[in-house]
Amino acid sequence: MSSVQACSASDDERRPPAHDLLEVAQRGLAREPKRLPSWLFYDQRGSALFEQICEQPEYYLTRCELSLMEQHAGSIADTLGSDVRLVEYGSGSGVKTRILLRHLHQPVSYVPVEISPEPLHRSVQRLAHEFPGLPLQPLCADFSKPLRLPIPPRAPRHTVVYFPGSTIGNFEAHDAAALLRKMRNEMGDVGGILIGVDLKKDPARIEAAYNDAAGVTAEFTLNMLARLNREIGSDFELTAFAHRARYNPMAGRIETHIVSRCEQQVKIGRNKALFRTDEAIQVEYSCKYSLADFAALAEKAGLAVLRVWTDPQQMFSVQYLARASVDPH
Ligand code: TRP
Repeated sequence: MSSVQACSASDDERRPPAHDLLEVAQRGLAREPKRLPSWLFYDQRGSALFEQICEQPEYYLTRCELSLMEQHAGSIADTLGSDVRLVEYGSGSGVKTRILLRHLHQPVSYVPVEISPEPLHRSVQRLAHEFPGLPLQPLCADFSKPLRLPIPPRAPRHTVVYFPGSTIGNFEAHDAAALLRKMRNEMGDVGGILIGVDLKKDPARIEAAYNDAAGVTAEFTLNMLARLNREIGSDFELTAFAHRARYNPMAGRIETHIVSRCEQQVKIGRNKALFRTDEAIQVEYSCKYSLADFAALAEKAGLAVLRVWTDPQQMFSVQYLARASVDPH
């Protein structure tokens, strides 16, 4: 039997406080330039659209990472070693997680860390069915904040933080280093980090991934406004805004914006947000790394890259990091 620790009342203090959406929107739209946080994408509709993005022919990231996991699952599991406690940042009911779990040698437990209770619950239900012998210890929490990991059922040899999907790219360099440093603390002296990192490549290829021909990404981006209309009663006219995703070669990142097609005003609670023609709301960055860039980022966080698995075209990488040895002797 699997032992599943539910997100019970006693776990409530671990949960993030409910966000005041109205306040978040008012504050973000009062900034210059305007900015809305990317977690606003992921309501039910947004999450469904994101899954569709992953299936678009232009969105190479998911397919590349998945095939790396399939192809190298054995060597990844050997690198992580036996008796691992696997902590995943994100709910991880996904195919990648299941491939990894199938190959791990005597894992001690699996700890998915997820901010929204429903996806966390669903993923645990599925995994409990497929991995009846694996202790599951879901944690309802914001992985960008320090975590109190549940006590493992037996002593793990290593704690490994799994962070797939190139989500690290959605943090700007300084925040990405801080997040890696936080993982470094949580995994302890002999732990590791298994992380998916999208690589720099022909900008046209990258831009296409964020501007699919079927328009799913555009719908995903604009869904943020639909969500605000529904949840805080704002009156964004969706056809008066456009999705824009461009590669900034100097910064090495895709910059996603919601652009106002005309001069207009939008009601946000008691406030009004004024938009100029072509004025943009910044909603997401997706940073791309060369292997050298990422090694330098890891080093800043006190980590060293021990292994890199990548495809022949170097589209995407899965990397294993551990603490850099402080003592040079
Ligand atoms: N984290 C994903 C990425 O950066 C999410 C994503 C895919 C995304 N397409 C998007 C975010 C378009 C904003 C807009 O690749």
